[in-house]
Amino acid sequence: MSNTINDWLDVGERALKYKAERPRREAEILLGSAINKDRLYLITHGEEEAEAPDFHQMLIRRNENEPIEYITSKVSFFSQEFHISTGALIPRPETEILIEKLLEKLDTDTQESIVEVGIGSGVISIVLAQHLEKASFLATDISPDALTIAKMNISIKQMTKRIEIFQTDLLEDVDKKIDILVSNPPYIEDGIVLEANLAFEPQNALYGGNIGDEILKRLIDESFTREVRILACEMGYDQKDKIETYLKDFDFKSLEFYKDYAGFDRGFILTLV
Ligand SMILES: C[S@@+](CC[C@H](N)C(=O)[O-])C[C@H]1O[C@@H](n2cnc3c(N)ncnc32)[C@H](O)[C@@H]1O
Repeated sequence: MSNTINDWLDVGERALKYKAERPRREAEILLGSAINKDRLYLITHGEEEAEAPDFHQMLIRRNENEPIEYITSKVSFFSQEFHISTGALIPRPETEILIEKLLEKLDTDTQESIVEVGIGSGVISIVLAQHLEKASFLATDISPDALTIAKMNISIKQMTKRIEIFQTDLLEDVDKKIDILVSNPPYIEDGIVLEANLAFEPQNALYGGNIGDEILKRLIDESFTREVRILACEMGYDQKDKIETYLKDFDFKSLEFYKDYAGFDRGFILTLV
């Protein structure tokens, strides 16, 4: 006789007791993924018997600190579900703020050319393209694995005709005119030891160089050289002063920093002209 859904959830909750902040909730997410049912189904069909051959292995992976998003291959971003796997950074909630801040600066019917550096799983370009139906999009990434995942999400969201993707270092070989440049680049200082779960994420999505802000500065340089109108970037909580100091030598219209949900400095919108 197989376990009921409630039996499986009890097994999962016990297994994750010392690992997860909300073991029952995580057990529900993992079991839902294992048997392809949503949470409401699990809650309303607790006494139903279910076969869940992958569930134990999922619990082992979670106990070894693997993020739940990589185990289920799903991530929620901007109230939507996206595909995710270990080749791309798991999109973070604070990156939604970058999108919101940029959208505040743009007309919904803008026809400008928008370019993203470091597309990762694709979430930023896809959400922007959903909101800006007349804008054109191109996105780059240095990682072929990330681009494979971006391509999958772009296809699932039916954006293949709207978002062109390109493997390169930053903007090398990108010749098109760029009006808006957006990026959540790697910005952590090389060598900083991170939490255990971050070990599963691509390291070139996290570490930005000896100081950490090297790619941010390259993006600023590119923006001035290419006469970009707006540069919108996420950054580290301790990089506001460095960005302000770097920009002292440039002429521009405005520089606005924004904070994340925890109140830390998290990004900026630079309007050049
Ligand atoms: C922090 S992740 C952001 C991913 C995604 N845009 C997001 O917000 O979830 C940074 C991305 O930049 C890419 N990257 C790192 N160095 C790069 C470079 N020199 N040129 C282009 N992309 C780069 C990484 O592969 C990674 O996908």
